[in-house]
Amino acid sequence: MRYFPAFMDLQGQTVLISGGGELAVRKARLLLPSGARIVAYHASEDGPLARELSDRLILRTEPISDTAFRENIRLVVAATGDEAEDERVAKLGRAHGVPVNAVDMPHLCDVVIPSIVERGDLVIGISTGGATPVLGRRLREKLEAMLPARLGEVIAFAKERRGRVAEALEPQKRRAFWERFFSGAASDAVLSRDETRAEALFSEELRGETPGHVHIVGAGPGDPELLTLKALRVCQEADVILHDALVSDEVLALCRRDAERIYVGKKRANHALPQPEIGALMVELAQAGKRVVRLKGGDPFIFGRGGEELEVLEAAGVEASVIPGITAATGCAARAELPLTHRGLSQSVTFVTAEAGGGGAPDIDWKALASVGGTIAVYMGVRRAGDVAADLMRGGLDASTPAAVIANGTLPTERIIRADLATLGEAADQISAPGLLVIGDVAAKAKGEELLSLARQEIAA
Ligand SMILES: C[S@@+](CC[C@H](N)C(=O)[O-])C[C@H]1O[C@@H](n2cnc3c(N)ncnc32)[C@H](O)[C@@H]1O
Repeated sequence: MRYFPAFMDLQGQTVLISGGGELAVRKARLLLPSGARIVAYHASEDGPLARELSDRLILRTEPISDTAFRENIRLVVAATGDEAEDERVAKLGRAHGVPVNAVDMPHLCDVVIPSIVERGDLVIGISTGGATPVLGRRLREKLEAMLPARLGEVIAFAKERRGRVAEALEPQKRRAFWERFFSGAASDAVLSRDETRAEALFSEELRGETPGHVHIVGAGPGDPELLTLKALRVCQEADVILHDALVSDEVLALCRRDAERIYVGKKRANHALPQPEIGALMVELAQAGKRVVRLKGGDPFIFGRGGEELEVLEAAGVEASVIPGITAATGCAARAELPLTHRGLSQSVTFVTAEAGGGGAPDIDWKALASVGGTIAVYMGVRRAGDVAADLMRGGLDASTPAAVIANGTLPTERIIRADLATLGEAADQISAPGLLVIGDVAAKAKGEELLSLARQEIAA
């Protein structure tokens, strides 16, 4: 480690920048949030720095000279992009005992300006010592994605209450309290901009009431990269994870390692735990103060019984929230490169289930659906694909209407079969995994490895 990380207090301090081009703009942008007073030299009146930031700094057209150092200067940034000039400025700065940063010239730098991730008082600086700034930037992007945008507000909320915690708790209990706070419902409420609820939850926790809560989370169709950032965060903070059969192993692998995992079903006819017991278990765990994640395939509110579970939690007075997921239809459609709506082909999409609660046929007006003329995405339809196709043909859709079956969509075991209404049942017979049926003109666009199109062959003959 050549450069030691330390944070400078630049509030109200003067920083000199040499240059008025893009390099100077980039450095000025990084420096401005620190509250530094920036004086830019060698900056033309119509250059990028003048155009973009002239109201936020002092502009001088002349190059930096000794006179610039008559006042107290904290930092000099050489950013003209002209090697000889930047070297001259760096030497001048050093001669006046001021630390220097020279853009893209590590050998002239006393100070490197890192890639910065900022969330209020939380500041993360990343430096590769000038060796590979690209890597530094990539790491910054990853951290930006990982850290909630309102983390700064959570830090400010905690900062304001440090005194209360110090008064209420003995020193050895404070750390455990703050650990719970940063992964608990109160900080979640701050992230969701609900300060009133956050304050109530914070006070409860401070009184030792440690309220548990349940996040009903959509895990998406299987590919772990399709998890939302929020879903990932709560999965990594959970004490207990109750998951379904449709949640992929790859997604489960991203959850907190020492969280208790409870498989609660459900594959068809293989419910590990009946629905009322799942509800009761969630309530019991939350009331014991646990942070519970109820992880469900796809989106919890699309054929996921998320609404029922939310009602049970609310009735029991348990703190609960819902985090959406990518539903099977949008996940599978993206993988098959099959747009669910497409100008000129389909102006609507209907999500429909082919199975009612008890496993029988649902009460769906297929004739009305056939007359809409858009795309139909059928969930839980593999077993009843032939019947669904027959119902839609009876409703007026042509036997040659394009269709596709997508099984295990977004997973390595994914299978896409293109068909049409006449052959949809046959196509689905080849599938044993959970699969989605897509019916409508857009299905002809599916990038399927296999094609079953008997109706068209018969018509051609
Ligand atoms: C009980 S529903 C749950 C739907 C889920 N809540 C969602 O939003 O995707 C189960 C059905 O979703 C569909 N499904 C879920 N994941 C799938 C995947 N990876 N590939 C294809 N279909 C999937 C299948 O139709 C399956 O029978």
